Amino acid sequence: MISGAPASGKGTQCQMIVEKYGLVHISTGDLLRAEVSLGTEIGKKAKEYMDNGHLVPDEIVTDMVISRLSREDVKEKGWLLDGYPRSFSQASSLEKLKIRPDIYILLDVPDDILIDRCVGRRLDPVTSKIYHVKNFPPETEEISARLLTRPDDTEEKVKSRLETYKRNTEAILSTYVDLLNKVDGNRSREAVFSEIDSLLQRVQEDAVKSRSLE
Ligand code: AP5
Repeated sequence: MISGAPASGKGTQCQMIVEKYGLVHISTGDLLRAEVSLGTEIGKKAKEYMDNGHLVPDEIVTDMVISRLSREDVKEKGWLLDGYPRSFSQASSLEKLKIRPDIYILLDVPDDILIDRCVGRRLDPVTSKIYHVKNFPPETEEISARLLTRPDDTEEKVKSRLETYKRNTEAILSTYVDLLNKVDGNRSREAVFSEIDSLLQRVQEDAVKSRSLE
């Protein structure tokens, strides 16, 4: 599981983790945005909450995550949850189903940096790659011309998302305190990934050791 404030770099790190480890990336933000752009019933209900930086009601998000986790590719490749759980009740829903991560990574980034990262973020609708106007500008003019800005990436909405995040974090951490690894996210993407990579390698080694003892 990977967590952290808005724009702490979860999506960016998940793209790098998936490339190396082949896990199935389940991002509730991405799943909800897909519903909104398809104009589904779920999307219509979720949009208002997302636009205001509030949490979408648990019953919508939890059903979505549980159904995604039960698919065959997840059983084969393993999962990487990004942006879920985001409240104590969401964490409790997973605990009741005995769904626990091997590791809980928390990306730590100061608030002033987060706002700049959100406001400058751009998304490529073709490759889903995440850019930033200053930090990670697009490679070509063609990519630059098709980049999109998320409607919830204005300074005002980011502040509201940050408040929501802070209100809920402590309660979630209490569920995963034994698995928690805080990572300094205010470094280059590569430096952050290098630390996460070492943590994931350790998880893999521990899994091999415990299998050999069975
Ligand atoms: P969601 O999409 O999950 O948004 P979020 O948590 O606010 O996180 P972000 O996607 O904004 O940021 P990120 O940490 O992935 O950063 P990124 O890698 O893109 O959720 C959106 C909304 O959906 C919520 O507000 C809520 O309404 C709803 N929702 C979602 N899950 C829910 C749930 N479980 N329950 C209820 N409602 C839910 O990076 C950001 C920028 O920084 C980019 O421009 C990137 O290029 C740049 N960057 C990344 N890493 C670095 C670095 N190391 N150095 C410099 N810049 C960097």
